[in-house]
Amino acid sequence: MEQFIDTLPKVELHVHLEGTLEPALMFRLAERNGIDLPYPDVDSVRAAYEFKDLQSFLNLYYNGARVLQTEQDFYDLTWAYLRRCADENVVHTEMFFDPQTHTERGIPFETVVRGIARARADAEAQLGLSTGLILCFLRDLSEESAIETFRTALPWREHFVGIGLDSAETGHPPEKFERVFAMVRDEGFHIVAHAGEEGPPEYIWQAVRRLGVERVDHGVQCTGDAELVEHLRRAQTPLTVCPLANVKLKVFDRIEEHNLPRLLEAGLKVTINSDDPAYFGGYMNANFRAVAQAFDLDRDTLRGFTRNAIDTAFVDDQRRRELYALLDAA
Ligand code: ADE
Ligand code: ZN
Repeated sequence: MEQFIDTLPKVELHVHLEGTLEPALMFRLAERNGIDLPYPDVDSVRAAYEFKDLQSFLNLYYNGARVLQTEQDFYDLTWAYLRRCADENVVHTEMFFDPQTHTERGIPFETVVRGIARARADAEAQLGLSTGLILCFLRDLSEESAIETFRTALPWREHFVGIGLDSAETGHPPEKFERVFAMVRDEGFHIVAHAGEEGPPEYIWQAVRRLGVERVDHGVQCTGDAELVEHLRRAQTPLTVCPLANVKLKVFDRIEEHNLPRLLEAGLKVTINSDDPAYFGGYMNANFRAVAQAFDLDRDTLRGFTRNAIDTAFVDDQRRRELYALLDAA
């Protein structure tokens, strides 16, 4: 099964670029930029990655992101992740980034976008994979800040396929961002949002009904509301599930307790993703392996995760056909 997973073409729809910052690169960039890290070495960074919930992770994660300063830093970050994709047979990936994490520290928006864009271009040319970029608003900041970020981003719009919503979920319901997502819709972007990672089913309803999301990021809490599950099944709204992330952040205590089997039995459109692989102990293959092993999933189910991701990727018809062809040939 391991070999089947390694060679299976995979499509990632939920990964935070800032969450691909490996401790070794964090140290290299800290040194390059003269930034003090609160850890003596790479091993103690890894040892610090014990989280009790989403917020305890975010505290470390935003602290780690401080080492990202220059266009080259964002290039190196993105390039390292995309090389990893190529190694793992990830043939298409749609990456989140959080501009406010950087602009709030005085890093210009264009520094971030230029570095990411150059790595994407190199990866497409040299590694043969396709990529998309999704700009996320931080939901623990104000809607005004999201609107300002969106205005700053518009001159760079050819770089994004979509707009998303992430960061601390509890207490920051999707409806807080209804006005800015109306602007996003008017501009014709694809829309996604983290909802129902830790937050209640009501937040998923809001993401669907009030923001108009095409995919729900995480969404695992939907099983607390039978009517919602039925809605998501009928609409075949994709859920970008991140199994290892959910265990690391104690949404489920053990992988065997993850509700993936319930989501599948309910007929929901599930995809498997890595979220913040440098922090949660695994990229795409590790996530596939974890669920395959925990739930004794067969090959058709694993192929189905890739098929679902291709169905819902923000790509043009030609690329979608190519992705199906890659899957069918495997
Ligand atoms: N930002 C990075 N990872 C996240 C997650 N798992 N949930 C919400 N915001 C995030
Ligand atoms: Zn996420």
